[in-house]
Amino acid sequence: MKKIILTGDRPTGRLHIGHYVGSLKNRVQMQNAGDFDEMYVMIADAQALGDNHDNIQKIRDNIVEVAMDYMSCGLDPNKITLFIQSEVPELTELTFYYMNLVTLSRLTRNPTVKEEIKLRNFETSLPVGFVTYPISQAADITAFGANVVPVGDDQLPMIEQTREIVRSFNNLYGETLVEPTAVLPKNEVCRRLPGTDGNAKMSKSLGNCIYLADDEKTVNQKVMSMYTDPNHIKVSDPGKVEGNVVFTYLDAFSTEEQIKKYAPEYNNLQEIKDHYTRGGLGDVKVKCLLAAILNEELAPIRERRAYLEEHKNEVYDALFNGSDKARKTAQKTLEKVKKAMGINYREILKK
Ligand code: TRP
Repeated sequence: MKKIILTGDRPTGRLHIGHYVGSLKNRVQMQNAGDFDEMYVMIADAQALGDNHDNIQKIRDNIVEVAMDYMSCGLDPNKITLFIQSEVPELTELTFYYMNLVTLSRLTRNPTVKEEIKLRNFETSLPVGFVTYPISQAADITAFGANVVPVGDDQLPMIEQTREIVRSFNNLYGETLVEPTAVLPKNEVCRRLPGTDGNAKMSKSLGNCIYLADDEKTVNQKVMSMYTDPNHIKVSDPGKVEGNVVFTYLDAFSTEEQIKKYAPEYNNLQEIKDHYTRGGLGDVKVKCLLAAILNEELAPIRERRAYLEEHKNEVYDALFNGSDKARKTAQKTLEKVKKAMGINYREILKK
């Protein structure tokens, strides 16, 4: 079977290091390994309108920001298809047909959607468009026949919903759609990176993000104000590593070479953790180590971004050429879907 990869993000803000370790880094590795037949990366602007229909400017601006984040992380439009969701209107049409295969109670049971409803105070005024976005996500995935979907933890319920839709569709109308599988980062801490304030989720609305586009000074400042162990007051105090964001980030980002390079008195991260737990290792020292490691990872990304900022036409070309290409594939799937359902009237209603 062909290996077709599809994934994407909502363009509601610049991407942060949670996106990076949670999925972006994985995508770049997959792209460069070349072990796939087709790879699509989508900017989910239509999905983002679900709670931003009154703020289109934000979405429009962030389509370009996210595209630049992607390309500066190493996603290469010559190797993959980078596209804008709303440029492929077939996705909306597929969504409409899939809607009949899903119940409202199933949609509101989705744990990620549930959490998002709470976060947005949508309990009493839930927009229909918002609650149905997992269905449109099934359209995104199936339109390209994607069987591999690299995502973060929070997207698992969407993949499950997609699989259910695929099964219902195939049962009803015959084998047509492909069931996808989610691919999560191997390193478990990367699946959901906490915010710099210790909140379980890094999120723009909580103001606890480190952005890929942050400059070195900003990264240093954010690391210095990070949540650690509130009971670790004096350097000599024993400290806690669990729930200590600085250590969580070190788990997510550091390599053994980096530890040796920036903290040569230790052989590995475990030795640093042991020292911190025993007492005698101050927060500032660990934070400086983390800042150095983050900045090393982000430096080439910043450099590519600076280039793209000056060459935005390259970004626009990538997006629109990719969208044209993606649209052709989605058109073929839509034809197949309509044929399976028997609503391809122009072929059927012929004498
Ligand atoms: N829901 C994803 C997010 O919140 C974006 C997305 C839309 C997506 N369609 C997708 C991800 C299809 C993977 C596959 O960022």
